[in-house]
Amino acid sequence: MTQRLVKATSEMEGRVTEVWTLVDDEDELEQWPENGEALSIVGKPTPRQDGPVRAAGRAIYTVDVRLPGMLHAAVLRSPVANARVKSLDLDAARAAAGVRVVVGPDDTEVAFTPTLCPPQPILTSEPAYAGAPIALVAADTPEQARAALAAMALALEMLPHLVDTRQGFNEMKLAGDPMELARGDVEAALKDAEVTVELEVETPDHLQTPLEPHAAVASWDGDELTVWLSTQGMFDARRELAEAFGIPAHRVRVISEFIGGGFGAKQGGGFEGAAAAELARLSGRPVRLVNNRHEEQLDGGRRSRTFQTIRLGATREGKLTAIEQESIVDQGEGGMLYLLQIVLMPALTLYACENVRAAGALVKTNRKGQNAFRAPGMTEALTGLEQAVDELATTLGIDPLELRRLNHSEVDPMSGASYSGKHMLACYERAAEFAGWARREQLREPGADGLLRGMGCASQIWWGSGGPPALVNVRIDSGARALVSTGIQDIGTGTLTTARVVAAEELGLPLDDVRVVGGDTAPNLFGPVAGGSMTTPSVMPAVRAASAKARRLLLQLAGDVLEISPDDLELRDGRLRSRDSALDVPVTEVTEKLGNASIDASGARGPNGTGGVVQTFGCQIAQVAVDPALGEVRVERIVAVHDVGRIVNPLTATSQVEGGVLQGMAYALSEELVVDPTTGVPVNAHLDDYKVPTIADVPEIVVDFIDLPDAQVPNTGSRGLGEPPIIPTAAAIANAFAHATGKRPRALPLTRARVLELLA
Ligand code: MOS
Repeated sequence: MTQRLVKATSEMEGRVTEVWTLVDDEDELEQWPENGEALSIVGKPTPRQDGPVRAAGRAIYTVDVRLPGMLHAAVLRSPVANARVKSLDLDAARAAAGVRVVVGPDDTEVAFTPTLCPPQPILTSEPAYAGAPIALVAADTPEQARAALAAMALALEMLPHLVDTRQGFNEMKLAGDPMELARGDVEAALKDAEVTVELEVETPDHLQTPLEPHAAVASWDGDELTVWLSTQGMFDARRELAEAFGIPAHRVRVISEFIGGGFGAKQGGGFEGAAAAELARLSGRPVRLVNNRHEEQLDGGRRSRTFQTIRLGATREGKLTAIEQESIVDQGEGGMLYLLQIVLMPALTLYACENVRAAGALVKTNRKGQNAFRAPGMTEALTGLEQAVDELATTLGIDPLELRRLNHSEVDPMSGASYSGKHMLACYERAAEFAGWARREQLREPGADGLLRGMGCASQIWWGSGGPPALVNVRIDSGARALVSTGIQDIGTGTLTTARVVAAEELGLPLDDVRVVGGDTAPNLFGPVAGGSMTTPSVMPAVRAASAKARRLLLQLAGDVLEISPDDLELRDGRLRSRDSALDVPVTEVTEKLGNASIDASGARGPNGTGGVVQTFGCQIAQVAVDPALGEVRVERIVAVHDVGRIVNPLTATSQVEGGVLQGMAYALSEELVVDPTTGVPVNAHLDDYKVPTIADVPEIVVDFIDLPDAQVPNTGSRGLGEPPIIPTAAAIANAFAHATGKRPRALPLTRARVLELLA
């Protein structure tokens, strides 16, 4: 075994960082063959390891944690979009029943770290968006904590607010510098183009709305901090909390065993982690801080509203000669500057085109700062661009899918480098077949039900290579049961089950005898944030590497016990067989000799291969039915075909796509945070009037994968899948709507009011 420390790169959502990585030569394995007969478990649908526990309501989420002596926190939040605190009676709150600690904006130095932003104070006396935290209370009961907020009798000096994104742009109220990336000469190309189209598109404020709100329970023991946290990133949370309280990271333990979704909104320690820990420090008691539904919709985060102008130039035959996309993005107060870079990506990377200009600006408004939301930036910009491409198809009289094929790029259009694998054309072909694309025009013939039907498509591009580091431990006991310890926090995607499939396959043990644990930083087995479609490509190679080592060790012991060379032994489905088939025994014949000893092995994620650009691809096709009398748009079917490398577990992978499609459908049809321009305050930050889809809205969703291993993702060849499925859905639906009605949506979501206006 040779271990080295090497410099390697890790990629998250296109952001490449250099990291020192522990590399073990033994961790590099030949990739498995393509999914099929050679593999027992990988590639076959496997139910979730924690399905029964979750379904029975026995899973303990952060919101369920109750500790002895625990206090309950409440947060005083700004009721207005921009103001200065004039008076705040903290003493009245301190005197209220059951109150143990009150913290005003001047009472704490503790900061938290919003996604990809510098740390900022947890409380402010100058709230610049509705919902901004001003003060904290911890009391014996949640009711007492809330009552104490009222006792503070907050008085504010109102300041003028800006919530109109375009007005902010016109007044150049920008966050950071505007950005432009270009190649060729787009101006000349547009002027010379045989055909041009121009489209203006507006996309809505979209809220992550995780089933479990942001939540933390913090507890100090001397200078050691334990936080139960509903987070996508336990290790980021550990680091951020250690920095916030000036203690070393090993004195912070973060536990995130069950998490009710995040969708990008729960990266790192969050406001809730830092605020709960500060209240716990000051009170000397454990403190629970959980957003209520209104707080979650007000301050949980959002995908931001965009206003886009897209101009395309093409030849009459349909070759793109110019792509220009200008985007104005609502940044809000704070918000991550990095988003802008991603907003420019679809124009630059989706199609082969020599003349491209993508430009964008972030407008600083008095809204909650935008943060990461499942394929942030890409979903917004591609929703615009793919509608413009559809308009071009209509103008040219070319089939929209054919137009996309015509402009397919075999290489990365930005760098000219080849891809590690791109099967976009296969995605088009399969999606067309499953959707019945050939009968698309017949759909438009008026039916007896009076509905207008249409079909639309959109392409998807995104990253998803992941990278080091990730560390995994495998321990096999005398019963030949394997315990796989990881740094995974399973935010609901089923990644622990994916790890179980990988481990069972490599170990040659039955699934039932393999148990995967994660959700705790205490073992110090690092795993990356469950974001950026990172987990499968980053962690599964380490799971496989550790399992391979454990299997090799086990085979060596088997050689001793069975008096046969380990090289002549195979382990599969819990049985040891000699290559000549003379021997066939349960593996427990060997492991039972272990007694109280165990076999232990560890594996680390090595660097990605080099030579090609790793991206994910896909195509979705939507069929919609529009009721012209009611303005209702019903999605009848969505076909989603994605190319994300090897599929480890088709069952959880399909679930991921279904979830992404539904979230994308809602982005197209119903979800929109509405802000009152007069007050600057969101008017529907609740679950009753912010319309997430219900089970009654779910269309038929047909999911398929190209399922070919990516040679550059070590060991497993699986790219990430969390984000890709949401990316093309809204554009496909908008294009289907345009096909059905002949009207191009100017703004999403396509609410009844907007549809009736368009059809009038
Ligand atoms: Mo994500 S939007 O990287 O959690």
